[in-house]
Amino acid sequence: MILAGNWKMHKTISEAKKFVSLLLNELHDVKEFETVVCPPFTALSEVGEILSGRNIKLGAQNVFYEDQGAFTGEVSPVMLKEIGVEYVIVGHSERRRIFKEDDELINRKIRAVLEKGMTPIFCVGETLEEREKGLTFCVVEKQVREGLYGLSREEAQKVVIAYEPVWAIGTGKVATPQQAQEVHAFIRRLLSEMYDDETAETIRILYGGSIKPDNFLGLIVQKDIDGGLVGGASLKESFVELARIMK
Ligand code: G3H
Repeated sequence: MILAGNWKMHKTISEAKKFVSLLLNELHDVKEFETVVCPPFTALSEVGEILSGRNIKLGAQNVFYEDQGAFTGEVSPVMLKEIGVEYVIVGHSERRRIFKEDDELINRKIRAVLEKGMTPIFCVGETLEEREKGLTFCVVEKQVREGLYGLSREEAQKVVIAYEPVWAIGTGKVATPQQAQEVHAFIRRLLSEMYDDETAETIRILYGGSIKPDNFLGLIVQKDIDGGLVGGASLKESFVELARIMK
């Protein structure tokens, strides 16, 4: 199980350091599952120093796929690895929508992250319009197939998938446990078809989208939900509450 906090474009370096120190204090006894925080790039290095050797892992929110070169504004997997990043969010719907990232680019990023020995948190999910048109499974299948394209079963087993219905992100409109479980089970079956049962069982599938302490338990008790990728509620003490619920 994994509880990951995506801070998005929130917290200055000093705010990030203060908050992560609070988290370490409150969650020092958590061993039952992996806890990950993904601060903005500016705070990554200093937060990484505070987390070094502790039970909360460092994640990045994005990466480029080349090691170095003329790619203005981008950050490479080597740079992330150097500062102790273990997880990298790839293909978040905000990057797909606002920054026009497509499945091919996301696939390159996933491969680059794996090559450097880090864990991609690979996001998939349908928009409201797609759900209303009955396209949810079709959209998610395409994203999963193309995102994992060319990966061996050993590589695929290292990927963490996050199912984040776009209509549930930052809207306060969480998917019901049944809606989420249905898509998670679909992804699991798809992985089994693409690879095999063992690979499908090994890959962890997180849910993301308006997770709050009062709706989290119903989601994580579902058979195919292996934790959460949390936005808004990961920026404050509610993240500690979520961790207590996971325990
Ligand atoms: O990566 C996290 C998701 O986008 C969920 O964000 O919890 O604010 O809805 P949210």
